[in-house]
Amino acid sequence: MTTRVLHYADDAIAEAAQLIMAGGIVAVPTETVYGLAADATNATAVAAIYAAKGRPSFNPLIVHVPDLAAARQLAVFDEVALRLADDFWPGPLTLVLPLAGTAPVASLVTAGLSTIAIRVPAHRAMRALLVAAGRPLAAPSANASGGISPTRAAHVLASLDGRIPLVIDDGATQAGLESTIVATEGGIEILRPGPITASDIETCFPGKGRGPVTPSAAQSRPLPGGHLVTAPGQLESHYAPSKPLRLEVTEADEGEWLIGFGAVAGDDTLSATGDLREAAARLFDLLHRADANDRPRIAIAPIPQESLGIAINDRLRRAAHRD
Ligand code: TXA
Ligand code: MG
Repeated sequence: MTTRVLHYADDAIAEAAQLIMAGGIVAVPTETVYGLAADATNATAVAAIYAAKGRPSFNPLIVHVPDLAAARQLAVFDEVALRLADDFWPGPLTLVLPLAGTAPVASLVTAGLSTIAIRVPAHRAMRALLVAAGRPLAAPSANASGGISPTRAAHVLASLDGRIPLVIDDGATQAGLESTIVATEGGIEILRPGPITASDIETCFPGKGRGPVTPSAAQSRPLPGGHLVTAPGQLESHYAPSKPLRLEVTEADEGEWLIGFGAVAGDDTLSATGDLREAAARLFDLLHRADANDRPRIAIAPIPQESLGIAINDRLRRAAHRD
């Protein structure tokens, strides 16, 4: 594949939107870093993000929307979340909120969680693309897995040249750091530090602290004033089935619901043709379905340890692990 680079302009955005609507992926600048965007409602398109990045595991992704009204179609806002959105959007703040029951977002985006990470970006290119594509866009940083986050189009090409069809170039990004991620349930918690600081957030709630503090990680650090908590690093939250899960199974035992792949048909299949992108796109839906039926245990067919299979197997090992 040849990667084209187009400078930000109306026709470049129109072309990027065409690609997105057809299930493709496009690198586009935001005010933080360049993102690798796909239609968040299209599971196969989201799987293509992982394939291009060569990401070895499935983290839930941030969903970008043009405004608060669009965000409210996808997430349930409490009073605190509304206040934060009002003060910091558009801008480099991501809110982790309960997923709205009717949200049309692919389960691969949220890694099967009942929450969604969402933000309204401020950059003209990402904003124009959101409007032109007319759908929410999932976008992690536009670099190969393990690489450094890109703040220029050249950084994107350094690791993704030949792996994506298009980069929109609009110069260096302004913040150069990924967005601050905040959860609001049971008190404000900073899940990832970023351009919007804890004290920026505190000024949003002058006077008294706002509700209980809920430290979630060992490294959590109460801040002066005591009502904000920072949990450095990345979250390891993932959907885990409630039933035991047995891996690399070609024939189900009694009481097992077998999720098939390729030649292993099973009760349900990740991909009858052995297509890893299709399997990634269906993974969390099939785990939920397996969890919800009346068989007491889940089994899953072997998945080849290559390309997207590496991320699928990583996810399955975590899902199968019991303490
Ligand atoms: O600045 C940014 O946020 C950039 C630009 C492109 O917008 N995007 C970005 O996305 O950094 P990504 O996908 O690399 O960051 C996802 C982070 C992960 O650390 C993940 O754990 C967290 O967001 N996350 C996503 N959904 C979550 C959820 N439901 N609960 C907790 N954390 C979540
Ligand atoms: Mg990243």
